[in-house]
Amino acid sequence: MDTSVIRNFSIIAHIDHGKSTLADRILEVTGLLTSRDMRDQYLDRMDLERERGITIKAQTVRIPYKAADGKNYILNLIDTPGHVDFSYEVSRSLSACEGALLVVDATQGVEAQTLANVYLALDHDLEVVPVLNKIDLQSADVEGVKAQIEEGIGLDCHDALAVSAKTGMGVPEVLERIIAKVPPPKGDADAPLQALIFDSWYDSYQGVVVLFRIMHGGIAMGQKIRIFSTGAVYEVTRLGAFSPGPVDIPSMGPGEVGYLCANMKNLRDARVGDTITGAQNPAPAPLPGFKEVKPMVFCGLYPVEAAEYEILKSALEKLQLNDAAFSYEAETSQALGFGFRCGFLGLLHMEIIQERLEREFGATLIATAPSVIYKVDKTDGTVLFIDNPSKLPKTQEIATLSEPFVRMEIHTPNDYVGGVFKLCEEKRGIQKDIKYLTSTRVIITYEMPFAEIVYDFFDRLKSATKGYASLDYEIIDHRASDLVRLDIMINGDPVDALATIVHREKSYHYGRALALRLKRSIPRQLFEVIIQAAIGTKIIARERNSPLRKNVIAKCYGGDITRKRKLLEKQKEGKRRMKRMGNVEIPQEAFLAALKAG
Ligand code: GTP
Repeated sequence: MDTSVIRNFSIIAHIDHGKSTLADRILEVTGLLTSRDMRDQYLDRMDLERERGITIKAQTVRIPYKAADGKNYILNLIDTPGHVDFSYEVSRSLSACEGALLVVDATQGVEAQTLANVYLALDHDLEVVPVLNKIDLQSADVEGVKAQIEEGIGLDCHDALAVSAKTGMGVPEVLERIIAKVPPPKGDADAPLQALIFDSWYDSYQGVVVLFRIMHGGIAMGQKIRIFSTGAVYEVTRLGAFSPGPVDIPSMGPGEVGYLCANMKNLRDARVGDTITGAQNPAPAPLPGFKEVKPMVFCGLYPVEAAEYEILKSALEKLQLNDAAFSYEAETSQALGFGFRCGFLGLLHMEIIQERLEREFGATLIATAPSVIYKVDKTDGTVLFIDNPSKLPKTQEIATLSEPFVRMEIHTPNDYVGGVFKLCEEKRGIQKDIKYLTSTRVIITYEMPFAEIVYDFFDRLKSATKGYASLDYEIIDHRASDLVRLDIMINGDPVDALATIVHREKSYHYGRALALRLKRSIPRQLFEVIIQAAIGTKIIARERNSPLRKNVIAKCYGGDITRKRKLLEKQKEGKRRMKRMGNVEIPQEAFLAALKAG
């Protein structure tokens, strides 16, 4: 295909500024979907997908479009996820594009994720096309927000389009603007194949479905392809694009975006960021930037009912087929019984997976507090990586205990700099740099222990900056720290699932706060319950729940619901999430008390 008629673009926006609504309207204006289809698609998507025998993920679509210049174009709208846990995947999606529509809500103006996304787009040399949305609303301030974008981001907005994704006003002009502004892809049709995998998922009918963008060369039905990082060779059994349903295309060339199936059984052969080349005539090098995604945050997941172990196991197996960044292995806890240690990219990823397990697979779970990976240099010269605090060796066996550090960039309006400093100091951050982006926006760079972010950093940053800061981080290394393991004992028995690793300086404060939280979240029983926090053999905190008289149990059961985390609010009530430990019943919120005690 002539690349001059192809335009590959994403839509980027702060949450709720109208990205999905604009995408839907574009599909409607170009006649790809009628409003009736759209209702069907969203209300009944699962059935629809079953009929087509292939799942359609997100909004990556090929849109044929006849422009005002009379030419027929192909617009590829490429979907991007929108959170820092997935920034690597956002980055891959943007690598598949030449341009990005930047949607800004004209009633809200520039917000944290607006900036974070624009920087990411500019990092990929994309042409950023600003669009002001929601102009049907009275409170829209088009000129004011244009000025904000110009000042805050430095994008020229003198002719920025103003639209209503809701009513469709101005949307046809957006399409013309894409044609005019987004450069067509470049690529050498005669070079060996190099295609970027920017998304992939497991489909129970077709096996793995891969979304790709061809940079050079071409792919044809029946061709043998090679996955660069693993060397695995497969034959293409299905090739096409979503438009919006799957449409077969016999061969594709540079600049084109599509999907393929090749009897791959496992997502590990189709990792986002990897390169597809030809099995014959392979390219000498992969496309730049392939990084294996490794889980960084771990927690234990245990069935509430021991009998549900097998259900949970098969649910985890299925989930992993669909998510190469998620890992699990069997573990046993004295307190919780048989379960799994699961690994995630970050906290959001963890919450999403827990929610999916409960919703899609009907498993009722107890989750332990998340932990990072600690490195232990033992006195006997061996090295261990520990993802479960209860597995930490005895103090006398440890020569050095190290924890992962991240380099973090925080973007914030300068009014909140003081609050950000205070928070980062409290979290053991080391300031590395501070830069003024504009007269009102600052970028602050810190190095900080990853464990400090896993706990409540996002929430705290949000409240310190009224939601205006945005944040990006990457793990840089492991560094020796003065860390200790804090154990919790209930009526004298240590509860392995409640052990945490904390910095020595904070350990007393933390131990006391945790014991108090546990006291509040563990419902009173018919007998006395003693909760103790200990470092080694030294007890540093003690709390006591006095016994209940029998007739009032019914009223007090359930603990203090208001303290449940947001994650738990979403979970269905039903079976009560309690684990019996000895004769004490411990509710789910007790296991997450560690998150709030920092
Ligand atoms: P996420 O998918 O959650 O990231 O949000 P989004 O950016 O895709 O926003 P979405 O399209 O879901 O829109 C958010 C809300 O704004 C929805 O309630 C939309 O109906 C509404 N909305 C979107 N565009 C317009 C518009 O042009 N005018 C008005 N009045 N409302 C709009």
